[in-house]
Amino acid sequence: MTYRIGYFVGSLSSSSINRRLAQALIALAPDELAFTEIPIGDLPLYSPDHDADYPAPARALKEAIEASDGILFVSPEYNRSIPGALKNAIDWGSRPWGTNSFARKPTGIVGASIGAVGTAVMQSSMRSVLSFLNAPQLNSPEVYIQVTDQTFGDDGSVADSSLEQFLGHYMEEYCSFVQRVLSVTAPGHI
Ligand code: FNR
Repeated sequence: MTYRIGYFVGSLSSSSINRRLAQALIALAPDELAFTEIPIGDLPLYSPDHDADYPAPARALKEAIEASDGILFVSPEYNRSIPGALKNAIDWGSRPWGTNSFARKPTGIVGASIGAVGTAVMQSSMRSVLSFLNAPQLNSPEVYIQVTDQTFGDDGSVADSSLEQFLGHYMEEYCSFVQRVLSVTAPGHI
């Protein structure tokens, strides 16, 4: 059985360490998980004025979320919270009222920072948002990565073997979590 995982990278930076982390996680994930990025960079700022006629990038975003069996967020922390571009994407996905695309989707939240807090505060904010949106979350393990020049090799692989092992363990737990949630929310699917 293959599970379709839509993943968000919460950074628009061309040199994003979170994009590198996402690529490392995908490389370490169990074979049952098939990943597709859900892009956020072309979305306009959300306004309820768009609810009657969503623009194409926002329609594509909602369709991608709804086509996913699980969602993975890989994001930096901005000013001790969720980066605006990612929060904007979540707002688009949550509306129009009554069509919240995140409802009942199993989610994982991970992040990389150059600071010692390793995105813990952003992740805490994300848990509030996703709880309100009725999206179950993998609670443990938690992935708070402080990236240094030694974290990734030139080929994008994880240079530290204990971190590599931990990230592989996270992806196994995430895969089991997606299966567990789907066994309740979509029993015919698994
Ligand atoms: C940051 N950074 C940051 N780091 C952190 O640990 N906590 C924070 O609250 C913030 N706040 C913050 C705000 C803004 C606007 C920027 C641009 C940066 C630093 C951040 O960890 C660093 O820039 C990472 O490289 C961001 O991840 P990406 O974009 O490389 O994936």
